[in-house]
Amino acid sequence: MRQTETSIIKVGNEEFEILLHENEIQKRVKELAQKITENYHGKLPIIIGILNGSFIFMSDLVKNLSIQCEIDFFKLSSYGDEKISSGKVTMLKELNADINDRNILLVEDIVDTGLSISYIKNILESSNPASVKIATLLLKPESLKHNLDIEYIGFEIPNRFVIGYGLDYAQKYRNLRSIYALKQ
Ligand code: IMP
Repeated sequence: MRQTETSIIKVGNEEFEILLHENEIQKRVKELAQKITENYHGKLPIIIGILNGSFIFMSDLVKNLSIQCEIDFFKLSSYGDEKISSGKVTMLKELNADINDRNILLVEDIVDTGLSISYIKNILESSNPASVKIATLLLKPESLKHNLDIEYIGFEIPNRFVIGYGLDYAQKYRNLRSIYALKQ
């Protein structure tokens, strides 16, 4: 039996409160999967997750698709162990797939400044894919600094640091089923 999650998570002197409950997340992920299924019918997309944060969203999303797809991952590092972005992106794992003439769907846990996803999109576009679209579970519109078209957005959230459902604080709390925001 899995542990029941509380509505407050204590991390040292800080407290995180529930922002998105797991039921709400699951419902929204199914809706996004439905739209993706319709838009990629007959196209055999390559769904590319950005590690580490996207692993749970990516898994729930692809389980709810009713089309065939291929899966690959990029691994990036930008936050380190901090709560604010370092402003630098380092590539830690490149793609294995040949993306020439393929339809790509990039899957992110959260778009904050947009730096990571812009960086990846630029790399992919230099290899002549048929299309590159973006799906993110969360978007912080107030912190977005890069001009991006994001086709699939789960939730727009305020500019608060969040953990859970793949998102970490110093590599921990990724396994929470709901999403929690730092109390202000
Ligand atoms: P961006 O490059 O500024 O858009 O940041 C994107 C990446 O930063 C995400 O993939 C996350 O790994 C991390 N990130 C951004 N906001 C948060 C947050 O509130 N909690 C945990 N990680 C975050």
